[in-house]
Amino acid sequence: MDNHRIQHKILDLKKQHDAAILVHNYQRPEIQELADYLGDSLDLARRAMMLPQPVIVFCGVHFMAESAAILAPEKTILLPHPDAGCPLADCASPDRVRDARKQHPDAVFIAYINTSAAVKAEVDVVCTSANALRIIKRLSDREICYLPDKNLAAYAAEKLGIRMIPWPGQCYVHDHLIDLETVERLKEQNPGAVVMAHPEASPAVLKTADIVTGTSGMIREAISSRNSHFIVVTERGLVERMRREIPGKTFIPIPTAVCSQMKLTTLETVLDSLQYFQHVISVPGPVAVKARRSLDRMLELSE
Ligand code: 13P
Ligand code: SF4
Repeated sequence: MDNHRIQHKILDLKKQHDAAILVHNYQRPEIQELADYLGDSLDLARRAMMLPQPVIVFCGVHFMAESAAILAPEKTILLPHPDAGCPLADCASPDRVRDARKQHPDAVFIAYINTSAAVKAEVDVVCTSANALRIIKRLSDREICYLPDKNLAAYAAEKLGIRMIPWPGQCYVHDHLIDLETVERLKEQNPGAVVMAHPEASPAVLKTADIVTGTSGMIREAISSRNSHFIVVTERGLVERMRREIPGKTFIPIPTAVCSQMKLTTLETVLDSLQYFQHVISVPGPVAVKARRSLDRMLELSE
């Protein structure tokens, strides 16, 4: 079956089941085209709560679907591919957070949204790339442990002039697959292009950037900027969206920046997901209640 026919079948099933399709900015272009809402992890968490549909097909990775399940417990949340996880999220476990809390009893613990529900249940507040600086700043009168992304932590610490308790963890796409030499070569080849980088990139790469922001922040910057050329230092799926939605401007991707876990979602898996109602993501009661507190706190602090 060609892509067009599968997309039609998906849209028919979506109507039949009164489902909504939420899609992260890193998804394949043919999945992005199906989206009722396409966005970053903060946008998608908010949308999951607000949408009227009782079924959500979450085209992203596991922690995103879990956040939706926590924020919208009355809805059925489907993750099309069961193995679509986030290796960065695996850099923190609830046991390690509990141990760290014993070692730093006075610290406030902030978890990146790229963590499991069980980790969110052990911290004080959650944040995303879109609100990390704001939330860390608002809590910076206390000792802070930010986990698990060491690059975002280092960027925020430098920007806000504070020190934080270190936590080892990184995203293999931003930290390993995006290297300084490639960014420098693209800068040389495209003089005058604006370099936009995700805060999960390494400190050396972030130093070369004109703008450091999350995926939706990059889209807003590209729309409002008077510049026409942008080097987009994040996962390549975002560039597909920018090229489609912002015609007339040039977006230069990092060729190697591909998140294999995001790419596990294909049209076939979305079709199966709606056909067989798979894979249902739910979070057990006590963990959901505690993780919800941390997510609600994020939503309050990011106002
Ligand atoms: P955003 O919240 O900026 O969309 O990022 C999510 C993510 O997984 C980055 O690698
Ligand atoms: Fe996780 Fe990195 Fe993929 Fe984002 S790009 S989902 S942080 S592995």
